[in-house]
Amino acid sequence: MTGRSPKLQRAYDLKSKEEAEAVYDEWAAEYDADMLAGMDYVAPANAANRLVDLAGADLGPVLDAGCGTGLVGKVLASRSVAVIDGLDLSRGMLDQARATGAYRNLTKADLTKRLDIPDNTYAAAICVGTITDGHVGPEVFDELVRVVRPGGLVVATVAHVWESRKVGEYLNGLVEAGRIHLREADEWESVNGEDVRCKIPVLEVR
Ligand SMILES: C[S@@+](CC[C@H](N)C(=O)[O-])C[C@H]1O[C@@H](n2cnc3c(N)ncnc32)[C@H](O)[C@@H]1O
Repeated sequence: MTGRSPKLQRAYDLKSKEEAEAVYDEWAAEYDADMLAGMDYVAPANAANRLVDLAGADLGPVLDAGCGTGLVGKVLASRSVAVIDGLDLSRGMLDQARATGAYRNLTKADLTKRLDIPDNTYAAAICVGTITDGHVGPEVFDELVRVVRPGGLVVATVAHVWESRKVGEYLNGLVEAGRIHLREADEWESVNGEDVRCKIPVLEVR
């Protein structure tokens, strides 16, 4: 973890939701330039493309959890996904996402709490760059699985914390509880400029 961009390091060092909100509000306007051109952040494209490759573009409404500035939504829209809703803790990031025009609804929400969304609302959910150091843990999968219809997919990127937060074990617990089938959990590139890789688990909701 040496030689990392100071902004990315600051994000990985976040200690509270309040701090996360403030840091991302401040970073929002520069985030895309920093992450894409500056760091070759490929996780949003890798995960969004994997979802569409597996589910097809006509899959129905998709929830982008921790949508940030909308990098995932832009890729999904470019692949002809028609309805995308986004959730994020940071209003600054949500404002950037709104400007992409890719989303139907954008809502400020905390992924560590129960979401104000009925069961089985979405055809799929995607969560990129948010299950990582200083952000949220695997507990978010409970709510993502709850709001996706049976047969739908939950796709996430998990960087750094797969071992430390026991993400594999957490997902196995969901398998044992009969809530998901774990279709794959392969390793992919995430932030090429920082040599960060991630796992992309694909959960099929039962
Ligand atoms: C690294 S960014 C990723 C954003 C986007 N998915 C992407 O890949 O560019 C992490 C995002 O998680 C959001 N976040 C952090 N903690 C959160 C929480 N508890 N609930 C909802 N969003 C959260 C931040 O506001 C930020 O937009």
